[in-house]
Amino acid sequence: MCPPTYFDVVYAINPWMDLSGSVDTDLAVAQWETLKATYESRGHRVDVVQPEPGLPDMVYAANGGIVVGGRALAARFTFPERAAEGPAYERWFATEGAPAYTSLGQSVEVMEGEGDLLVAGDLLLAGTGFRTTPAAHAEVAERLGLAEQGITLVPLELVDPRYYHLDTALAMLDDGSISGSRTVAYYPEAFSPAAQETLRELFPDAVVASAEDAAVLGLNIVSDGLHVFLSDRATRLADDLKDRGFVPVGIDLSELLKGGGSVKCCTLELRPAVGPLTPEMTR
Ligand code: ARG
Repeated sequence: MCPPTYFDVVYAINPWMDLSGSVDTDLAVAQWETLKATYESRGHRVDVVQPEPGLPDMVYAANGGIVVGGRALAARFTFPERAAEGPAYERWFATEGAPAYTSLGQSVEVMEGEGDLLVAGDLLLAGTGFRTTPAAHAEVAERLGLAEQGITLVPLELVDPRYYHLDTALAMLDDGSISGSRTVAYYPEAFSPAAQETLRELFPDAVVASAEDAAVLGLNIVSDGLHVFLSDRATRLADDLKDRGFVPVGIDLSELLKGGGSVKCCTLELRPAVGPLTPEMTR
């Protein structure tokens, strides 16, 4: 995570960003601190990336890259306003992230990290349409060695500009690593007809989110398979999650919503290499 020390809305690169509104940066920092403390209280470790002046969107750490099997590929952004964030996250991977993570440098193609790339066990759901390109999907598959890691990339086309990143329209709730079956939640209308068909086939038991829950970025979720961290405004979705046995944890991120992001946008998940079991582990 990266604190919103320099957060503001000074350019508009998505429909959520309203240049005539006002942003309370101190409140953004307080809400972000609450999110971080909430993760930690549920047993998660949070590494903090140093924010940089002049990069107001750097708080949306999910966009900084993707880390799978210990391999970290830093982002390349669509808009020049965010271009310097790619090298900033790359530096973190190469310094503080080492040796747990191997930095592969920055992607060549336009690729906005976990904004568009969601890991679901042996699937990598890959959004395109507004930011991350199909050419970047191919680059990610090759450079992260998805085939050799047994991971299949599934491209999904986004069609509604309000849901410009995959993580605004689809949430991974359970990647299947413990329960054995994957669960996602998504808002069908954000996807092309072909992508909707793919999602129906892959996830027949998905939680289908309402337009209201999508419109507060309620799908911008981080889940550990039990606790589901999401906007406290997504009340109907929280009830549906409870019915499925999840524990929704609502967070107020009103200020960061003004930049077009919520819980997941603030959070890049680090996946270390999975080595063989050592005698210590099995003792
Ligand atoms: N203002 C940022 C942008 O438009 C918001 C990014 C939100 N991040 C995310 N993972 N969806 O690029």
